[in-house]
Amino acid sequence: MDVLIQQGDCLSARTDALVLGLFEGAPTAGALKQAARKLGSDAIARILKEGEARGRASELTLIHTFGKLSPSRLLLLGLGKREKLTADVVRNAVAAAGRRLRDAGCRRIAFELLGAGSGGLDTERSAAMIAEGATLGLYRFARYQSVKEDEPKRDIDAIVIYADNARAKGAAERGARHGRILGEATNFARDLANEPANRLTPTDLAEQARAMAKEHGLECRILERADMEKLRMGSALSVAQGSVQPPKFIIIEYKGGKRGGPTLGLLGKGITFDTGGISIKPAAGMEEMKGDMSGAAAVIAAMGAIAQLKPKANITALAPATENMPSGSATKPGDVVRAMNGTTIEVINTDAEGRLILADALAYANQLKLSPLIDVATLTGAISVTLGDVATGAMTNDDALLRRVIAAGEAAGEKLWQLPMFDEYEEQIKSEVADLKNTGGRLAGSITAAKFLAHFAGDTPWVHLDMAGTDNSTRERGVWVKGATGIPVRTLVNFAMAWAEDDD
Ligand code: BES
Ligand code: MN
Ligand code: ZN
Repeated sequence: MDVLIQQGDCLSARTDALVLGLFEGAPTAGALKQAARKLGSDAIARILKEGEARGRASELTLIHTFGKLSPSRLLLLGLGKREKLTADVVRNAVAAAGRRLRDAGCRRIAFELLGAGSGGLDTERSAAMIAEGATLGLYRFARYQSVKEDEPKRDIDAIVIYADNARAKGAAERGARHGRILGEATNFARDLANEPANRLTPTDLAEQARAMAKEHGLECRILERADMEKLRMGSALSVAQGSVQPPKFIIIEYKGGKRGGPTLGLLGKGITFDTGGISIKPAAGMEEMKGDMSGAAAVIAAMGAIAQLKPKANITALAPATENMPSGSATKPGDVVRAMNGTTIEVINTDAEGRLILADALAYANQLKLSPLIDVATLTGAISVTLGDVATGAMTNDDALLRRVIAAGEAAGEKLWQLPMFDEYEEQIKSEVADLKNTGGRLAGSITAAKFLAHFAGDTPWVHLDMAGTDNSTRERGVWVKGATGIPVRTLVNFAMAWAEDDD
């Protein structure tokens, strides 16, 4: 889909539709007022009076213009109360608008700068939200569905954002580029996570990472099993040993900062399929575990956006990738393994495998002197009991760092919520036979998982994001469609951009 910026009057757009904003309880103004005049016969006034269009956030009212306006249709897009308008409202509303117009068969749609001017957003931010909202909302994963002749799946070819003057055009161009980069990176993560596990093995994931890195001029290295053995990554390797698929440890580097300067580490859990191993999962819903590499997908995709936005900073992504399978060679409950930092771990439950691969990734990040660290992982089912599919769980050894990650999430419309890391939880992961055990029992499962990881983060400022409740959506809502959400790609990119500004 192209995102174009046009200088001029949006009412003259020769497109299948024009999207105009409508605030709740506010009189028609701006382009909508002019459109109403041109349509004549009080058409819009009547629709408003009937109460059909009230301006509620994401409300959609599609009307035909029957040759009275240049665009063939007008979509009145509700933006809620003017004083409550946020970038997030615009982004979600645009996503819904895009889907509605795609369903109506539109191929080219025009937008006014929604929420700019009286709405309080500046031109750049408005254009960014339109580009990002449309890119995210129009995403679909249809590569394995045969095309039916009677219902061809058509996509929107282009969106055209209208700006009044040359200066606004420049700002809109900058915003649209930013929004599109974030949206496309998120969609790349979604593609990887939606891909079935037989089509995306650790080897395939590594290939995808390599291709992305090449496209954007990033450095990419893949550690093979032998390399991981040399590094003594016994914890990560214990997860891989039950699978016929070789593990891959993906490393992507962006060097936009000072040589030898601080390097932000982004770590992602890359279990391309999680059967649970010998502690096997029940059959119902197990197919969802093809998405257990969403963390790896997020950090890989974030690096692609970072390469295009070029912050003045050094950033390294680490993504250990393996399957978690039961087999004659698989790890058994009670086995003891040793992570690369020397810590021994009693594997109580082979289904708590994410923390086993992240243990070595965190230890390796410390060896590489990366700091600060952010890991993202579909780590515990418990986090969706706690926060549902609304917020991603966040845990840290550095509250100030987490506050900055939460702010980056807010700007992206990705909600994070902190859970405590009280010392008392430590008791639950003490082992009788090793330094740690990999499960802490039923109580506070997300926190004890984070407590386990904290041993490997050590003193390095670190944030852990548990996205097992938010990585997948069962319904359409705003920028999210069914399937992988691509959370927290935009949070990571926003954080990287802000961190580059602050830490140099
Ligand atoms: N990948 C799962 C967590 C998960 C569950 C992600 C549901 C998405 C949806 C993880 O590896 C896992 O199995 N965790 C166990 C940990 C337990 C054995 C301590 C869990 O949450 O049950
Ligand atoms: Mn598991
Ligand atoms: Zn898992």
